[in-house]
Amino acid sequence: MNSTFKLFGFLVVLSIVFTSCQSAGGNQTGSEYMPDMAHSVAYEANTFGYYYNNRWGTEDDLHKMVQPRQTINGTIARGMSGKASEGRGVSFKANGSVPYYYGNTEEERLRATAEIINNPYPITASGLEKGKNLYNIQCAICHGEKADGNGYLVREDGGKYPVQPANFMLDEFVAASNGRYYHALMYGKNLMGGYSDKLSYDERWYVIQYIRSLQATTKKLEYSEKLNTFNTTDTPYSVIAAKKAEAEAAISAAVVPSAPIEATKEVLKNNSGH
Ligand code: HEC
Repeated sequence: MNSTFKLFGFLVVLSIVFTSCQSAGGNQTGSEYMPDMAHSVAYEANTFGYYYNNRWGTEDDLHKMVQPRQTINGTIARGMSGKASEGRGVSFKANGSVPYYYGNTEEERLRATAEIINNPYPITASGLEKGKNLYNIQCAICHGEKADGNGYLVREDGGKYPVQPANFMLDEFVAASNGRYYHALMYGKNLMGGYSDKLSYDERWYVIQYIRSLQATTKKLEYSEKLNTFNTTDTPYSVIAAKKAEAEAAISAAVVPSAPIEATKEVLKNNSGH
C-alpha cells in the first residue's frame, strides 16, 4: 500500500516534469512536432520573429530585413498625387502633394523658370474664384489686392516690412513664365517665405491663374474660362469642352459596319448542332 502510494506520487511528479516544458501557453508553442509549422520561414515586415532553425541568415540579418525601408525615389503614395482628383479608377481624395524636382538655389530657380511653361489646369471660373480667395488670404497682405506690390504691410506699416514685394503688373512679371511663379510659391525668395506647406498643388496653380487674370485685365486682354487672349500657355476650359463635344459627336455618328456581324452570324449558323 505504502509503496504503491510512493510509486503513484513519483509518477505524478514525473509527468509534471515532462509535460511542463511541452504544454503551449503565452508565447510558448509547447513541444513541436514539426518546428517549421509553428515558425514561419517567411519574414514579415516590421515583425522580428527570429527562430534558430530557420535558415535565412543570422539574427542580425533578420533584424535588418524586417526594418521599414525607404521608398524608391519619386514614389507617390496613394492619395498623394495632386492630379489624383481627376480619377484613375480609384476613388480617393488628393492631399495635393506632388514631387517637385527643382532645388532651392538661384540656378534651380532659373531652370524652373525656363522649363515649367504650361499651366496644368484649364482656366475655369471656379478655379479663378478659388485662386482669388487664396491670393487675398495668402499674398495680398504684401503683394496687394491689385497685385501691384502695394499690400497692407507695405502701405500702412511702412518700415515694418522693409522690402518691396514684387509688382506683378510690371511687364517683367507679365512676361515671366509660369515656372517663375511656381518656383517662388514653392521656396519663396529672399524675404518672402515659401508656400508649399500652405497651398496644395492645384491651389498653387489656381493662385497663379488668378494673378494672370489680374494682369490680363490691366492689359485689356481676356483670361477666362471662355477665352484666353493673354497667353498661349494656359488653356481656357471652353477649348477642352469643345474638343470633348466634338469627340462625343464623332463617336455617336460613327456607323458600325454590318458585314463582319453578318459573317459571324453565318459561322455560328453553320456550326450549330455540333
Ligand atoms: C510677407 C510678404 C509676402 C507675402 C505674404 C508674399 N510675398 Fe511674394 N514676395 C515678397 C517679396 C518681398 C518679394 C521680393 C523678393 C525679392 O525679389 O527679393 C516677393 C516676390 C515674389 C515673386 C517674384 C519672385 C521672382 O522670381 O522674382 C513672386 C512670383 C511672388 N512673390 C509670389 C507670391 C505669391 C503667389 C504669394 C502668395 C501665395 C506671395 N508671393 C506672398 C513678399 C511676400
